[in-house]
Amino acid sequence: MFSQQRIALFQNHPTPFYVYDLGLLEKTLAAMNAASSQYNYHVHYALKANSNREILDRILKSGMGADCVSGNEIKRALESGFTPDQIVFAGVGKNDTEIRFAIANDIFCFNCESLPELEVIAQFARDANKTARVALRINPNVHANTHHYITTGLEENKFGINIHELPEVIEAMKQYPQLELIGLHFHIGSQITDLNVFRSLCTRVNEIQEWFASRRIILKHINVGGGLGVDYHDVENNLVPDFKTYFEIFAKFLEVRQGQQIHFELGRSIVGQCGTLISRVLYVKKGVQTNFAILDAGMTELIRPALYQAYHKIENLTPSPGATDLRYDVVGPVCESSDCFGKALDLPEVKRGDLIAIRTAGAYGEVMASGYNLREREETMYLPL
Ligand code: LLP
Repeated sequence: MFSQQRIALFQNHPTPFYVYDLGLLEKTLAAMNAASSQYNYHVHYALKANSNREILDRILKSGMGADCVSGNEIKRALESGFTPDQIVFAGVGKNDTEIRFAIANDIFCFNCESLPELEVIAQFARDANKTARVALRINPNVHANTHHYITTGLEENKFGINIHELPEVIEAMKQYPQLELIGLHFHIGSQITDLNVFRSLCTRVNEIQEWFASRRIILKHINVGGGLGVDYHDVENNLVPDFKTYFEIFAKFLEVRQGQQIHFELGRSIVGQCGTLISRVLYVKKGVQTNFAILDAGMTELIRPALYQAYHKIENLTPSPGATDLRYDVVGPVCESSDCFGKALDLPEVKRGDLIAIRTAGAYGEVMASGYNLREREETMYLPL
């Protein structure tokens, strides 16, 4: 819950807006570093979760690398002070401009997802008279037990090279002296809360490593992706994710070969809890079965509920003293029935002008905002330490 002092600050700010608690971000980064440094793991931050400059500044200072999925994310990372050797570039559809840009900047590694992509990278590296370092993104066919829209490691998904294609890919790579194969990459999905899934991933990676070792192919870097989930329900008690248990699983089950470095790409678990969407109630409208609390924020600011039926905790920050709970559907102003943040929620009686907080919106919130309906964008607020 926010202090009265902070709520007073929000009152004077045009809504809707995102607010980020930079103190919490620093605490999260410190916890992540304490847990990962025990094993000498290299952790990259997935910019796609949130690429705000203030946030990137803190993340850079914490020593994380950068995981980018577009040319503009690489640009943003470089502008923010990440060095090229800290940048990995993933994505199933990298375009020509993006590949050329990444080669020109000598990024650390391309995570390659298909044979046709390898051919294009090789061609552009040749044109630039450079060598491109690549890791093969392998689709490990491990179920992530998460929403099907954010599952990426199954054969039915578009991501990665399937295991049965590996002999062909390795054979084909012999034609490309411009490519230096430095490792393997995996990412099986996001918002993973069943940590056994990561144990299954480790087992599969061990098997795949065995396959490469039997062919005497040496891989210096193993990147196991991201995906660690956050608690959208019991927010206050889980502001900092359990990085310790997460990294312990890899330490216990992943077989690391001599001289190998292990990499991770975390997004949501770093920034999810530090962001909140603050909105104001425009109207309270009586429906037939429920009341509607109509907010000035909608799916244009936070699309996760509409797109993934995602739950975000909703709080009335300014209830009248002694207000009792009533039941509401909390909705946005956009002309779409999916523009709904939560159904049948019990909240202290809501009135026009109340401030509503939508929690755990730091990851995949502001970055996924859209220009639909030409709605205004209000300035973001950063709470200092
Ligand atoms: N690495 C790769 C290759 C990825 O595709 C992703 C996320 C990550 C790392 C970071 O995963 P994280 O640690 O944040 O789970 N918009 C969706 C989430 C999409 C995730 C896409 N990939 C949502 O709002 O839930």
